[in-house]
Amino acid sequence: MKILSAEFVKSCRLAADYPAERLPEIAFLGRSNVGKSSLINSLLGRKTLAHVSRTPGKTRLINFFEVRTDDPIIGRFYTVDVPGYGYAKVAQAVKADWGDMINAYLRRRSELCAVVLLIDGRHIQTLDISTVRWLCAIGRPPIVVATKVDKLKQAERQRLLSEVRETLQLPDGLPVVPYSSVTHQGREHLWALLRERIGLMRART
Ligand code: GTP
Ligand code: MG
Repeated sequence: MKILSAEFVKSCRLAADYPAERLPEIAFLGRSNVGKSSLINSLLGRKTLAHVSRTPGKTRLINFFEVRTDDPIIGRFYTVDVPGYGYAKVAQAVKADWGDMINAYLRRRSELCAVVLLIDGRHIQTLDISTVRWLCAIGRPPIVVATKVDKLKQAERQRLLSEVRETLQLPDGLPVVPYSSVTHQGREHLWALLRERIGLMRART
């Protein structure tokens, strides 16, 4: 599959600002600094499309990117970079605003066909566990991606999948994709899952 183009469209806070064109949307969600923007760049084969930073909390609005592919099923879609949650240094008022913004998007957006939840397999936190539970409860069971696997030792890699499933208390049938935005390990696997979700949405409309 070829990515024909990948372009930033807009940053949004309110539903009224979301793109008017109805395309399937894939949202990337996870704690601050877990590697969401890096994953988007890796997946799309672009180095600097989504803004990557060592400073957690870089992405503050919901960012839409329009992607065109030559894949007959995937076609054209939006990649959505959602601000990271759980960054302790952000003021309470800002946090509440982020919560509302993310909540509104994830609950109501009918174009949304997959939520990719990124976790760091070495440091799963209570917030990750409650996020999985919440996503399942609102009818958005996530595709879980365990990021930064290039940092793991061989033995840690072998334990990763079962540990992630167990710690997150992941319902059966929900996939976990080990991923590295440095080596691009996991890219084909993730594309296959996204193709399936986009295909289901296209079949419905
Ligand atoms: P926010 O926008 O703040 O929520 O962060 P984010 O989730 O978008 O994380 P970002 O992609 O900006 O990456 C955070 C840091 O982790 C950066 O220093 C990246 O270079 C690094 N990083 C991301 N993915 C990987 C990976 O797969 N492997 C390694 N080794 N480092 C990674
Ligand atoms: Mg980011």
